[in-house]
Amino acid sequence: MEFPFDINQLFSERVSVLDHTLVAGRKSAGRPDLQAHIATVIDELGRASAKAQQLTAPITSASKLQSQKHQLYLLKDGESNGGRGAVMGFLKVGYKKLFLLDQQGAHVEAEPLCVLDFYIAENLQRHGYGLELFDFMLQHKNLEPVLMAYDRPSPKFLSFLAKHYCLKQSIPQVNNFVVFDGFFLNRSVGQ
Ligand code: ACO
Repeated sequence: MEFPFDINQLFSERVSVLDHTLVAGRKSAGRPDLQAHIATVIDELGRASAKAQQLTAPITSASKLQSQKHQLYLLKDGESNGGRGAVMGFLKVGYKKLFLLDQQGAHVEAEPLCVLDFYIAENLQRHGYGLELFDFMLQHKNLEPVLMAYDRPSPKFLSFLAKHYCLKQSIPQVNNFVVFDGFFLNRSVGQ
């Protein structure tokens, strides 16, 4: 995904972690012009993800990120677009208080880290970039994927989780979140 401005100027790392401040590193702090470009990138990514999932409205936008306590991991290719860089995709996570059903069907209140949105540009899918981004987030959060909850995962994402993390057996829920076998094991209270 290319933009008419320098992606490498906005995002110095291969993976940048963004939050409600919309600041990616020291460069964009106190620079409204750069923050406006970051907002354009997030809005564009959110629209592309919604289109790929056939959603009526984006789950991700700059204004939503500014008002919520979520984190967005953004993957770039620094070499493409004549050295100005291109954005390859993103992964958005956040903690949510959920009422879940355990294997016995009992209600359990938990506040797991949830995958809320995940997108790799169409022409780059199935090349391992989603895995690169997901693994970065797991290391950054020091977390196992089985301890996470997944908000309305798409068929591609379910296939991704089964292939890379052996997450195949989900525990039926009454909401849109999916958790897998092992979620309720080794959990500390309130996690
Ligand atoms: N059809 C079926 N499975 C797919 C597809 C596809 N078109 N693309 C990726 N996968 C799954 C498969 O398991 C695939 O392994 P395989 O090629 O051996 O079958 C595996 O992912 C490949 O892994 P990566 O290359 O690391 O994944 P990728 O870079 O494609 O990223 C992602 C995965 C983010 C799901 C990407 O395919 C995508 O953006 N899809 C469209 C948007 C989407 O569905 N996002 C998830 C929304 S749900 C949520 O966020 C909670």
